[in-house]
Amino acid sequence: MNILVTGGAGYIGSITCVQLIAAGHRPIILDSLVNAKAEVVNRIEQVSGQRPVFVQADVRDRARLVQTLREHAVDAVIHFAGLKAVGESVAQPWRYYDNNVQGSLVLIDAMREVGIQTLVFSSSATVYAETLDQPLHEGSVISSNSPYGRTKLMAEQIFSDVVAAEPTWSITALRYFNPVGAHPSACLGEDPQGVPNNLMPFIAQVAVGRRSALHIFGNDYPTPDGTGVRDYIHVMDLADGHLAALRYAHGRPGHHVFNLGSGRGLSVLELLSAFGRACGKSLPYEFSPRRPGDLAAFWANPSLAEELLNWRVQRSLDDMCADSWRWQSQNPNGYESS
Ligand code: NAD
Ligand code: UD1
Repeated sequence: MNILVTGGAGYIGSITCVQLIAAGHRPIILDSLVNAKAEVVNRIEQVSGQRPVFVQADVRDRARLVQTLREHAVDAVIHFAGLKAVGESVAQPWRYYDNNVQGSLVLIDAMREVGIQTLVFSSSATVYAETLDQPLHEGSVISSNSPYGRTKLMAEQIFSDVVAAEPTWSITALRYFNPVGAHPSACLGEDPQGVPNNLMPFIAQVAVGRRSALHIFGNDYPTPDGTGVRDYIHVMDLADGHLAALRYAHGRPGHHVFNLGSGRGLSVLELLSAFGRACGKSLPYEFSPRRPGDLAAFWANPSLAEELLNWRVQRSLDDMCADSWRWQSQNPNGYESS
């Protein structure tokens, strides 16, 4: 299939493009590069042996979208394009609603004009309300405490309403848990700008010497070792989840929602210790106060995706750490190094 991949130069989108190519599809990347580097397209070619079409454009640019959908005879869309920093979304909510919600609306509008009705959307576990009822399943209560999370909830709602109004659409929201790791080639990985907000890239930068120590946000949570527990998922497994979702959804009308997670919770200390094994040294850390807004523990019940998509995670914690370390050590300054 010809697949428009919005945000396809980003962390998850670029690795999904490699897996799409490997499965015989033709990705067409549309990305504004607001949080990505053009070098990524070269890396996708290097890894996959095929250079994807790259259109530098904003997903809110309706005319470019329509033109791209027509010119490349697109069959289905995977919609990764969005801003994703929770703290920034609190400081600049208008940017997040405009980019993430308006961007999704413009995409629907353009797809309607061209007559394309299959869409896979990047949602997030952040749409779930705080609850002790773990693991989280697709029917768990939803609610979000950040503008970023609310953009994901709103987009899911819009998509569900679109399907209710025009039942021939097939729209799938994939609720990712915590994506980590890199492509095993070390050519593609996460390249955060500035100080990483998320745990794995921070640990990787400590390991490579860019940061002096990990600050562990809280060691007094009601978890086995007192540190926060999350469901980490290898980005390659996540990419494969998109292929499974496309296979399932194409030609199957409806609004579908799936968790993509491993089903296993891991603490900050467990992840840090596994990374130490991967890079061959123990990594310095200190305990800091809890980060405002953080939850003690959440992880996925991935059984719906296992049953209907025939998808489950294949990569281990050691794979996640080994691949992150290979990416970080071979690209110490991310794509700037090349
Ligand atoms: P990323 O920032 O690496 O990738 C997003 C890409 O979208 C970037 O390349 C950026 O340049 C592009 N983009 C942003 N706004 C755009 C616009 N208006 N028009 C065109 N391109 C635009 O992020 P990622 O980690 O690869 O995440 C991809 C998607 O998955 C995002 O929607 C994110 O909210 C969602 N998600 C990510 C995580 C995570 O932890 N990484 C977790 C849950 C959900
Ligand atoms: C973050 C986002 C969430 C997003 C998710 C996806 C916030 C508040 N939430 O959640 O919206 O869906 O990423 O990956 O940003 N930690 C440290 N030290 C650090 C960084 C993190 O101890 O320097 C801890 C955190 O307290 C948490 C765990 O590591 O217990 C994971 O943190 P992080 O990678 O930021 O992910 P989430 O908190 O799950």
